Amino acid sequence: MPATVIVGAQWGDEGKGKIVDLLAQQSDVVCRYQGGPNAGHTVIAGGETFKFRHLPSGILSGKTSVLGAGCVVDPAVLLEELDGLEERGISAEPLRISGNAHLIMPWHIAIDGAGEKRLGKLQIGTTRRGIGPAYADKAARLGIRVQDLLDPKILRQKIETALAEKNIWLERVYEHEPFELRAVASRYEGFAQRLRPFVADTSLLVDAALRDGQDVLLEGAQGTLLDLDHGTYPFVTSSNPIAGAAATGIGIGPTRIDRVLGVSKAYVTRVGAGPFPSEMEPGLAAQVRELGQEYGTVTGRDRRPGWLDLVALRYAVRLNGITSLALTKLDVLSAFDELEVCVAYRLPDGTETRDFPAHQSDFHHAAPVFETVPGWAEPLDECATLDDLPGPARAYVERVERELGVPVELVGTGAAREQVLARS
Ligand code: IMP
Repeated sequence: MPATVIVGAQWGDEGKGKIVDLLAQQSDVVCRYQGGPNAGHTVIAGGETFKFRHLPSGILSGKTSVLGAGCVVDPAVLLEELDGLEERGISAEPLRISGNAHLIMPWHIAIDGAGEKRLGKLQIGTTRRGIGPAYADKAARLGIRVQDLLDPKILRQKIETALAEKNIWLERVYEHEPFELRAVASRYEGFAQRLRPFVADTSLLVDAALRDGQDVLLEGAQGTLLDLDHGTYPFVTSSNPIAGAAATGIGIGPTRIDRVLGVSKAYVTRVGAGPFPSEMEPGLAAQVRELGQEYGTVTGRDRRPGWLDLVALRYAVRLNGITSLALTKLDVLSAFDELEVCVAYRLPDGTETRDFPAHQSDFHHAAPVFETVPGWAEPLDECATLDDLPGPARAYVERVERELGVPVELVGTGAAREQVLARS
């Protein structure tokens, strides 16, 4: 299985980090292809908890870990994360950063926060890490890239050009203090000194690994429904988490990808604003939030829990070409005697659909059609393989497989690396 994409099949936070960490044990290279420090991956290994925002989860296994051209990089966050790892005795040496990745600059963070504030009730609920403004500048060709860090003259020039415009925006539109060229340039020159050794031609590196028959994992951040083009716009992130973007984000052809593993929770969560048909009522939501520790890794915000949504998952299978699924956090559902599964949406015109609505108004007003299925109401700690699951839990997994037409390859039954069941 040379190139495998691991993609979030919901609204992010599906537990990709843990699955990537697990598969990274048998891989040679682990790459992130989009996003930035808006991501939050939690991995529990050897009794220790690691929270990553920037780094590919593969860094824990000492594998070559790539941040591809499709990523946006906040050097301050990345260096803090690298320092944290080194303090815990884990080497950052295998990290490689594409020179084509874009930098998150201080004005991106300022504009993200100020823009959200200005939107008031209409705000997206971003992570306020500067993601949207950094990708916007990339598209406007005003961005500053990782490779610009390698030349202090170019770096200073680009900061000066950007500031000439950004400071006007900041002061006149957002009533924000302007940034000072000298201060920003010297801070980023400092970052440059430390990041220089990690900058590489990562497209060439991944291509060489694939030619060599090595196993490459391409790790998406966020999730399918947060995709800029195909997600629940405008409540989305500013990049493309879907599997097709792995090729552009890394700089390899789509024909190099052999396998797409979709990661879905056994239920759903969403952070930030936006429509959410299978959302649980507040009492139940609070219970699941506590059981599943559903609080944002990056922002600490409460996540909004919902029942498993097969309509949205079917959409994710289609958009990503998912070839198999990992179903995480099945243990959280052990608390319930009965479970609801959203099998269709009822649209405003009274019709029912099993396919994700193409029009925003239909989705915004979609009512969930739930089917009640038996719970298993017992812990899953003793299960060693998927075949050991209690009958109703097995039936739940098989229902997902039948509805989506793809096999469930892995099932998560707890937070630790070991608590992932595979087929026997
Ligand atoms: P941004 O990516 O910070 O611009 O935020 C845009 C939307 O994506 C907001 O609804 C965020 O809550 C959501 N989002 C961004 N990153 C993640 C993530 O890693 N997990 C879940 N939601 C995310």
